[in-house]
Amino acid sequence: MKKKEHKVIPGEALPFDPEAAKRVDDPLAIDAVAYVEIFAANAKQTAYFYTRAFGFRPLAYRGPETGYRNAATYVLEQNDITLVISGPLTLSHWMAPYVMIHGDTVKDVAFRVPDVEAFYAETMMRGARSAESPTIWRDESGFVKRAAIYTYGETVHSAVERGEYKGCYWPGFVPYEDYFESIPSQTEPGLMNVDHVVGNVEEGQMEHWVKFYEDVLGFKEMIHFTDEDISTEYSALMSKVMTNGTSKIKLPINEPAEAKRKSQIEEYLEFHQGPGVQHIALRTDNIIHTVKDLRRRGVNFLRVPKAYYDEVPARVGSIKEDLAAIAGLGILADRDDDGYLLQIFTKPVHDRPTLFFEIIQREGSQGFGAGNFKALFEALEREQDLRGNL
Ligand code: FE2
Repeated sequence: MKKKEHKVIPGEALPFDPEAAKRVDDPLAIDAVAYVEIFAANAKQTAYFYTRAFGFRPLAYRGPETGYRNAATYVLEQNDITLVISGPLTLSHWMAPYVMIHGDTVKDVAFRVPDVEAFYAETMMRGARSAESPTIWRDESGFVKRAAIYTYGETVHSAVERGEYKGCYWPGFVPYEDYFESIPSQTEPGLMNVDHVVGNVEEGQMEHWVKFYEDVLGFKEMIHFTDEDISTEYSALMSKVMTNGTSKIKLPINEPAEAKRKSQIEEYLEFHQGPGVQHIALRTDNIIHTVKDLRRRGVNFLRVPKAYYDEVPARVGSIKEDLAAIAGLGILADRDDDGYLLQIFTKPVHDRPTLFFEIIQREGSQGFGAGNFKALFEALEREQDLRGNL
């Protein structure tokens, strides 16, 4: 292959303008989750896993072939979900110690915002800790702006403004097919968008982070689950769901509560070496199709005992899906005043018992499956016990 000419496009820092927050109606407006970025020791194989196991389509690439000597990044898409997978190529890159400490992990839950500088100025004024000051990347196809603030642990929220960028993903990226064989056509699992992203924090720290989302990002507490709501014979946890003004962004936060044995949150904190993203919930319109497809692709899901389904008709009432199909696939059901939901959880997707995924179909319910917590946490504990961590 002929060597292509590439220009490394460095980001240019924008001057900090504390007045920027005043130039828009709502500087904290968030349109959607722009992307979720996962740091992985081996980005190439991790990207392949999400492509083959979860049906994502590789869109863009940046790495040594495009002039970036120390790191590789793959951008994957499925409907409104963008997954960014990055990995270090040399020990001198700061991502190398990062993945050594935390394992493969979510680094960034990025928000799409109308005005990055306004968002950054407002969050700084409200006490955020800066992870990246407003920066612009430009090429002949337009520009992308980004700034980032820290949340729990070393996780960040980037704010991204795309300025009608017409190139491939981001200045400095090239189409995936420029360097790799295009992947053969595959079935569509039908994952539509990020429904919610859950973080685990240390015992006693949940309130601190609830206040952070309220004070810095203007979020509100949507639901609160106590350790009585979420406990098994052995372990307990507490959870609060934070949501932004439009309710488009839902970010629950868990902390472990005192109990007889080690909770799944403590296991996470131990293996992740601190707080971080526990699970990413992806929404589907047809969970039976999605789970069938993902199982065929080799995704491993948690199983609840068959007896769980004996109580579903009485607890959840009538649902349009075939209960036998739901039970056969191990999908969980729950109902609240607004309707019902169907959900299922994968086993951890990397080596450490840290990050996993949830697949969710909402039929009116805006809840999180509180009626399933007990069955679910017992299933999680069986896995924890197999790993010798209960
Ligand atoms: Fe969830």
